[in-house]
Amino acid sequence: MSAISSEPKEGAAGPAEPPQDFFDARAEFASRFLAGEGLEIGALHLPLAMPPQARPKYVDRMSADQLRSEYPELGGWTLTDPDLIDNGELLETVADGSQDFIVANHFLEHCEDPVRTIGTHLGKLRPGGVLFYAVPDKRYSFDHRREVTPLEHMVADHEQGPERSRREHYDQWARLVDTEDDPEAPEEMQARARKLEEKLYSIHMHVWTQAEFLKMIIYCRERYEEAFDIEAAARQGLEFVVVLRKQGPPPEAAVPLPPPPPPGLATRVKRRIRRTIG
Ligand SMILES: C[S@@+](CC[C@H](N)C(=O)[O-])C[C@H]1O[C@@H](n2cnc3c(N)ncnc32)[C@H](O)[C@@H]1O
Repeated sequence: MSAISSEPKEGAAGPAEPPQDFFDARAEFASRFLAGEGLEIGALHLPLAMPPQARPKYVDRMSADQLRSEYPELGGWTLTDPDLIDNGELLETVADGSQDFIVANHFLEHCEDPVRTIGTHLGKLRPGGVLFYAVPDKRYSFDHRREVTPLEHMVADHEQGPERSRREHYDQWARLVDTEDDPEAPEEMQARARKLEEKLYSIHMHVWTQAEFLKMIIYCRERYEEAFDIEAAARQGLEFVVVLRKQGPPPEAAVPLPPPPPPGLATRVKRRIRRTIG
């Protein structure tokens, strides 16, 4: 099974249904917070709908042709052609302090060291620039049988190097996600895990619920000396979206907030409510 499919396996209890949506977080946050020149990493078949004031360049680890053969299940989709081929965890081809925004949807969970990735992305932003991340909530995806990755695990991966837990991630994936073969055959599962590991197949390395993901974001804020604020966070369907702003004035093209209501309006509304409810 690929990293893209979210179909539950036959015989296994499927993931929980995500609660009802209240608004379109990706679209709302994109139009509110994205402006200027930036990057979208791993857009693949679902590039973010960018507002007119945002000019993205697309980054992926492979060309569109290679992505097409990596993800045959996306045969019916148009795949985004990357402008830059680069490792989105390191962005070595991108100058520090050069971007107004970086979008990476359903990407952070693929990263071996998400704490380092967030630090790297911050470094690539201009002051006031924005990081925009959507991550799947493991309760509602094919990861539902995996344990939430605790914050301490990500911190240890960051401090000791992600190689320390790589094998464990592939084992988990083969056992609890990629279980098309007989789940009772441990040798086959081991062999599958080693094969995926050998080709560094892009699995979900870490899995989160929204609360655990937010813990990591707060941890990064402390670790990176409060280099950013959390502008917005919301659940949408099976995913969770956060927008982080690097300290500094936002880029000039950013959408201004709507003007505040005229003074006295709040008082008039309160009076009317009081009259209505007696
Ligand atoms: C699950 S898809 C995300 C598709 C889409 N953005 C979405 O919202 O569903 C993950 C994407 O990230 C890319 N990717 C994974 N690891 C990467 C890396 N280290 N560097 C650059 N791109 C990477 C994959 O090639 C793929 O295009």
